[in-house]
Amino acid sequence: MAGDEIGFHPVVAALYDPVQWYFERVQAPEHRAYLAAGLDGRVLEIGVGTGAMLPYYEGGIESGADIHGVEPDPTMWQRAREKIADSTVDMQLVSARGESLPYEDDSFDYVVECGVFCSVPSIPPMLSEVARVLRDGGEFRFLDHVRSDGLVGRSQDALTPLWRRIGGNCHLNRRVRPLLETSDRLTLEEFDRPTIGYWPIRKFARGTATLSG
Ligand SMILES: C[S@@+](CC[C@H](N)C(=O)[O-])C[C@H]1O[C@@H](n2cnc3c(N)ncnc32)[C@H](O)[C@@H]1O
Repeated sequence: MAGDEIGFHPVVAALYDPVQWYFERVQAPEHRAYLAAGLDGRVLEIGVGTGAMLPYYEGGIESGADIHGVEPDPTMWQRAREKIADSTVDMQLVSARGESLPYEDDSFDYVVECGVFCSVPSIPPMLSEVARVLRDGGEFRFLDHVRSDGLVGRSQDALTPLWRRIGGNCHLNRRVRPLLETSDRLTLEEFDRPTIGYWPIRKFARGTATLSG
């Protein structure tokens, strides 16, 4: 779709960790722990960013898990590489997009993403790739800020064109649940709509879906 290009910018990547400071220390921990709890086997994270999930993999993942990550933004990728080097998590990080994953069909037990649906050009192609690389019975875990209802939602609609320009194509008003519910291969298992942030980011979609058939 015209204008829905990925908005990589080194300044966004450079500011990402300082801007996220409060979120990471106060708001995100219980939700990131949810994403990482008990991960085992072959695990893929899409849109690793600067590597904010790494400390949670250290605590949540079973020993022997084989963990992979993709990140298309070169500056984010470099920051994640540095954090992986300082971490006990041996993540195999490659430069790739969620809509075109460089992995074989049925090759992962878990796929994880956090905060990526807001910035991909379109969510369905990424969901198709998630379904393709998950093995039968495999689990997809997600956490994303989404459009709120009512007045807040309308303010997010109005602000999104500007927000995308300064925030690496981040949309404030994405909807996730309807796309998961209409996926022909993923079945929504858990879904929660926690309020985590402050305006203009308020509601999140958090949950799991499994691959069937
Ligand atoms: C808001 S950041 C979240 C980063 C990280 N997942 C976290 O939890 O902190 C969004 C990330 O999605 C990445 N991204 C944007 N478009 C993508 C795509 N098409 N496929 C995969 N990742 C993408 C961005 O480069 C960025 O690292």
